Amino acid sequence: MAEPLTVVIFGASGDLTSRKLIPALFELHRKGHLPAETKIVGVSRSPFRSDTFRQQLASKAEELARSSNEPWHAEAWNQFAPRLHYVAADAAAPQGLQPLAEWFRREEGEQGGRRLYYLSVAPELYPAIAANLADSGMNREIGGFRRLIVEKPFGQDRATAREVNRQLHQAFREEQIYRIDHYLGKETVQNILIFRFANTLFEPLWNYQYIDHVQITVAEKVPVGKRGAFYDKVGVLRDMFQSHLLQVLTMVAMEAPARFNADQLRNEKMKVLDAVEIPSVESAGESLVVGQYAGYHDEPGVAPQSRTPTYAAIRLQINNWRWRNVPFYLRSGKNLSTRYSEVMVQFRCPPHLMFPLPKGETLRCNHIKLVLQPNEGIHLNFQTKAPGLERVRLEPRDLSFDYREAYGDQPLPEAYQVLLLDAIRGDAALFMRSDEIERAWEIMDPLIAASERADRPLPEIYPIGSQGPKSADDLLAREGRQWQRIGE
Ligand code: BG6
Repeated sequence: MAEPLTVVIFGASGDLTSRKLIPALFELHRKGHLPAETKIVGVSRSPFRSDTFRQQLASKAEELARSSNEPWHAEAWNQFAPRLHYVAADAAAPQGLQPLAEWFRREEGEQGGRRLYYLSVAPELYPAIAANLADSGMNREIGGFRRLIVEKPFGQDRATAREVNRQLHQAFREEQIYRIDHYLGKETVQNILIFRFANTLFEPLWNYQYIDHVQITVAEKVPVGKRGAFYDKVGVLRDMFQSHLLQVLTMVAMEAPARFNADQLRNEKMKVLDAVEIPSVESAGESLVVGQYAGYHDEPGVAPQSRTPTYAAIRLQINNWRWRNVPFYLRSGKNLSTRYSEVMVQFRCPPHLMFPLPKGETLRCNHIKLVLQPNEGIHLNFQTKAPGLERVRLEPRDLSFDYREAYGDQPLPEAYQVLLLDAIRGDAALFMRSDEIERAWEIMDPLIAASERADRPLPEIYPIGSQGPKSADDLLAREGRQWQRIGE
C-alpha cells in the first residue's frame, strides 16, 4: 500500500478553503486524480468537530456549484467527505501544533508519510507557522516529502519578501516551497508556452524585428467588495502587477527552455525579469499611470482620503537582444467595463504598402490576441481584400481559435486543481521561485514608490464600467500607439 498522503490546510475556516481549495480537491477526487490514500486535514482555531467541518464545506461547495449552474454531485461528495478531517489548533502559537502532531501520530503511525502543508492564512503568520512546523519536527521528511504551499501576497516589497524567504528557508529547503500564483494555473497562461514553443509559425517573428509592442491586460469588472480593508493597504500594483502581470510577461518574453521542468522554465523566466529595466523612483512616474474608480472611498474598510490605486498602466522595457526597443504595456484595474484578460502582440506594419488607403485612414497592422479569460482563445488579425468592385479595399479580419468551441466536451480545469495536483506530484514548474519573487518586487518597488510620492497628483478617478482613466490612453498616445479596447 502507498504511504499515507495528507494535505493539511492551515486557515481551514477561511474563505479560500471553502471557495477554492476544497472544491478543487473535490474535483480532483471526482475525476480520479486524487490518490486513494489522500486525507485532507483542516486546521484552525475554531473548535469544530470533523463532522461539522464536513457539513459546512458540503453546503458551501453545493452552493458554489449551483450558483455557477454546475451540477451538484452529491454521491461523489459522500465518497469524498470521509477524507476530510478537522483539528483545532493555534498553528502560530508556541507549542500550538501539538494537536496536529498527535493527529499524525494516530493516523500515520511510526512510518510517517507524505505531507503537503497549505498556508491559507494571513501572510504575517507564514514565518511563525513554518518555524512551529520545524520546532515540532514536522518538517522532517519521515516516510515521504514535506511540502509547503504559500499564497500571495508574498511580502510588501523586495525587503519584506526577502525576509519572508529567509525565514521560510530556516524551516524548509527552497525545493520544498511552492509559492502560488494562480494565473500560472490557468490553462490559457500555460498555453502561451505551447503556442510559442510547440509551433514553428510564430516564433521566428517573436522579436524586435517584427513586433512593435506588446499589451498585457487584466481587466476586472468586480469592485474591491468585502476586501476593502486589505486592498486599501495594497493597491493594484502590489495585488496584480508584482505577481500575475509580471508572470504573464515572462511567459510571453522568455526564451525556450531545453526541457519542460521547474528549474529550466524558471531559469528562463528569471532571465526575463533580470532584463527588465528598472527605472529610478524619479523617472518611474513617466512610465506609470494610476487611477481609482469613482466611489472607491465609500467601500467598507477603505480610508476616506485613500490614494490607493485600483487601476494602473505601466510601460516596461526588456533590455535584451530579442526585445530591444519593444515596449511592454501592462494594465489592470477593478470595476472596469468587463472581465477580460489578454496578451495582445502588435506586429510592425509592412515596410511599404502598395494599396491605396481611403483618405485619413491608416492600416491596422497585424496583431495576435491571446485571450486568457473569458472566451479563451487566440485571434490572429490580418488584412483581407473586401469583396467588391473597387480595385482593392482592405479590411482586417480574424483567424480565430476558440477553446470552448474546439474542446467543448472538456471544460478548462480551474487553476487550483492544476496547482494542487502539481504540488502533490512534486512539479514546481508553475510555482514562483524565491529569486523570481524578489526580482519582481525589485521591478515594482520604484513604480510603487513613484505612485505613492506625496507630490504626485491623486489617482485619476475613472467611471465605474469604463475603460479606465483617460491618462492611460495618453501613456500610449505619446508614443503613437493606442490600447486595444477592453473586451473587444
Ligand atoms: C487575486 C487578487 O490574486 O486575483 C484579486 O488578489 C483579483 O484582487 C484576483 O480579483 C483575480 O483573479 P481572476 O482569476 O479572477 O482573474
